[in-house]
Amino acid sequence: MELTLLKCVRIQQISVRDKMKDDATIWISGTIHNIFSVGQILTELGFKILNVVTWEKTNPPPNFSCRYFTYSTEQIIWARKSEKVPHYFNYKLMKQLNGDKQMKDVWKLNAIAPWEKTCGKHPTQKPLSVLTRLILASTKPNAWILDPFTGSSTTGIAANLANRRFLGIDQEADFLTISKNRKLEIENPKTATTYRQKIGGFNDKKELELFLVEEPILEYGNELIL
Ligand SMILES: C[S@@+](CC[C@H](N)C(=O)[O-])C[C@H]1O[C@@H](n2cnc3c(N)ncnc32)[C@H](O)[C@@H]1O
Repeated sequence: MELTLLKCVRIQQISVRDKMKDDATIWISGTIHNIFSVGQILTELGFKILNVVTWEKTNPPPNFSCRYFTYSTEQIIWARKSEKVPHYFNYKLMKQLNGDKQMKDVWKLNAIAPWEKTCGKHPTQKPLSVLTRLILASTKPNAWILDPFTGSSTTGIAANLANRRFLGIDQEADFLTISKNRKLEIENPKTATTYRQKIGGFNDKKELELFLVEEPILEYGNELIL
């Protein structure tokens, strides 16, 4: 039986929700073609939708059919596990990144840059700038982050560069090879520093590193129960 991506999303979310901490949140990106169905499934499963972030690409590809407006946005749903338990949000940092004004739910960030593709190409690879921002907004240092549709593991690279732990799952072995090579690449501290300085969405190239130095180290258990 062939599963559609949405059915897979539904199956993955049921098991993902069971494994989430009570104050944890989930981010799911999509386009107008699927984001409404994803939102409906999330609600049916008991998640509470917190925001729908619009990522506005500053350099979108042209629309060759010339029959529509140029697609220049992606939507990212942010939801928490339960209606009642409060979630974690680093409000202060987001405000700081936005010139000391509340961060809006429209993020103007570049589409992916060539330096992010040194280990091979994934057709829908996300830029580190988007993943880094959402990880810093919603997780504490050392937290475990899971991406069950990991592709080239941009989530994992952003997580590790920001001192978080990561587990990724993908059905394609070739994408896992790209992921592994990206992980090996950032094990070189010089490369990791360079990448932290290149990630977009910060006020200057040292801001991310300075923030990471200031973050309190939290103790989580070592075990990962799946
Ligand atoms: C949109 S891409 C993720 C791209 C990723 N964010 C990145 O930056 O590289 C979705 C991924 O989900 C994987 N996928 C689709 N259905 C799956 C399933 N049922 N189980 C595991 N992986 C799946 C695909 O192989 C694809 O790499």
